[in-house]
Amino acid sequence: MTQQNATILNGNALAKKIRASLKENISTLRKKPGLAIILIGRDEPSHMYVRLKKKACEEVDINIHQYLFTEEATQKEILETMRFLNQDDDIHGMIVQLPLPKKFNESAIIKAIAPKKDVDGFHPLNTLAIKQGKPKIIPGLALAIMRLIKSADQPIEGKNAIIVSNSKIFSAPLVYLLSKEGVEARYTSPKNTHTAKKISEADIIIIAVGKPKFIKKTGVKDNAIIIDVGINRTKHAKITGDVDTAMRERNVFLTPVPGGVGPVTVAMLLYNTYLLAKKDTENQG
Ligand code: GUN
Repeated sequence: MTQQNATILNGNALAKKIRASLKENISTLRKKPGLAIILIGRDEPSHMYVRLKKKACEEVDINIHQYLFTEEATQKEILETMRFLNQDDDIHGMIVQLPLPKKFNESAIIKAIAPKKDVDGFHPLNTLAIKQGKPKIIPGLALAIMRLIKSADQPIEGKNAIIVSNSKIFSAPLVYLLSKEGVEARYTSPKNTHTAKKISEADIIIIAVGKPKFIKKTGVKDNAIIIDVGINRTKHAKITGDVDTAMRERNVFLTPVPGGVGPVTVAMLLYNTYLLAKKDTENQG
């Protein structure tokens, strides 16, 4: 047996706590929140994620309205359904599960979500609001990462964070949330030649590159907080993250995969749905 020194940041336990408190908050609303999920095609992971989202919604009393389309559906049909959902007072949040089959124009579909129902926070107006430091809605993934960092229960003000991912868009809400806590957060591409050095110097590491063992056991500082967003399928159909599991032998804080970022992200989607429903009832006096 190798020695396990890392503190594991348990996403399943944290998500359960978030759902319990949400369920209480939702019970105080005059109307149950409604979440519409549009799912197109047969992508198996997408179907699995939607099943997880549905189950979590049922647990906290959010009404789910699921719209399933085959790949034969047209862009026009999808946009018409979305227009109808944008008008429906029982729907507070709408998500279109990504990725879409290739023939669809993804950015046109995301733009068709009414910004006030954009529970994923993917609409360009909502992305812009975050960049301007005036967010209306923050993507669940970024909220989940922040909650997991805080669950390490360490002082983070004045620390430095590195966000390693293939897409810079992913980093903007995180930079916003971390800066608010006094953390200096920087984005870097996994292809940048300085990335390994930057990871080795960081107090907080957020890794989302989709490569098993991208971060090796020796690649980080003692006491680093490591948030592993990677989801990789091994030859044996097991799921692993981007961090070598040998990292558990180091003195660090680490999210497991599975059971780390995933369940908390779903919980924060429910949280965002609750926030939109609350705002809607307040607007109606
Ligand atoms: N596909 C993978 N993650 C997400 C997500 O957070 N939202 C949507 N709509 N699709 C996804």
